Amino acid sequence: MRRVVGEVVDAGPGGLCVRAPGLPAHRPGQFAMLQLTPGFARTDPLLPRPMAIYRREADVLEFRFKVVGRGTRALAELRPGQPLALVGPLGNGFELPRGPALLVGGGTGIASLLEVARDAPGPVTVALGGRSRDDVLGLADFEALDVELRVATDDGSAGRRGLVTDLVDPGAGQELLACGPHGMLARCAQLAREAGARCRVSLESPMACGFGICLGCVVRVRGGLRYVCTEGPVFDAELLDWEALA
Ligand SMILES: Cc1cc2nc3c(=O)[nH]c(=O)nc-3n(C[C@H](O)[C@H](O)[C@H](O)COP(=O)(O)OP(=O)(O)OC[C@H]3O[C@@H](n4cnc5c(N)ncnc54)[C@H](O)[C@@H]3O)c2cc1C
Ligand code: FES
Repeated sequence: MRRVVGEVVDAGPGGLCVRAPGLPAHRPGQFAMLQLTPGFARTDPLLPRPMAIYRREADVLEFRFKVVGRGTRALAELRPGQPLALVGPLGNGFELPRGPALLVGGGTGIASLLEVARDAPGPVTVALGGRSRDDVLGLADFEALDVELRVATDDGSAGRRGLVTDLVDPGAGQELLACGPHGMLARCAQLAREAGARCRVSLESPMACGFGICLGCVVRVRGGLRYVCTEGPVFDAELLDWEALA
């Protein structure tokens, strides 16, 4: 993990690219804390925001997000050449599945899965869901991969009308990896348990620091508590206390 002040290459309401030489290599599913630098005239919001590293090409890191509040709005308004501070890579990320894998992404959680889908050595099925086609983040990038792709949207504007979990049918030998809203993750965990498949989920808990200082991300697990930032965000679904998470 390192703190680097990068230079924005491009930014908009769907995400941003930043040149950040010196940021150590990451593994799929890791994240970075993004913060407008104090030297920059606009220092609000002060707290950094956690974002999954969508992909990296040489020194340029790409993040995909939705504007939901003032932090993501400020990030979307950055202009090429402006500075952006990054702390990362953070968290454990996904260990690549060795055998057949089923990846399930909902909403912004999709951003954690592109590099897993790209790099996993075994056969990969990807199920993506969102409210509408525009909500299915990075759809064209997933379509370009050598994976079986399934899509569900609430309004039927892409793929099947319905929930992404309607497309989830894990086999016993398959590993299920999921990132998205809590209800989606809980259902994935249940379907995997019924099928006898291993399931790992990545949590998008709100975070203030990203490296174990503020206690803001702590979640209850069976028999204790865990930091999502340093011990996650990826957890074995059977470890989590789903009732306490709800
Ligand atoms: C490890 C990790 C990876 C993430 N990766 C991505 C990503 O790749 N793309 C992306 O768009 N988002 C991602 N997020 C979520 C992102 O960090 C939040 O959406 C962002 O911090 C919101 O900041 P804001 O100031 O715009 O919104 P705020 O003003 O802080 O909040 C606006 C609204 O969003 C809700 N909200 C804020 N943070 C979260 C959260 N973490 N989960 C659910 N609801 C939240 C608030 O309750 C509020 O209703 C990730 C979160 C984590 C922990
Ligand atoms: S985000 Fe601060 S301790 Fe995890």
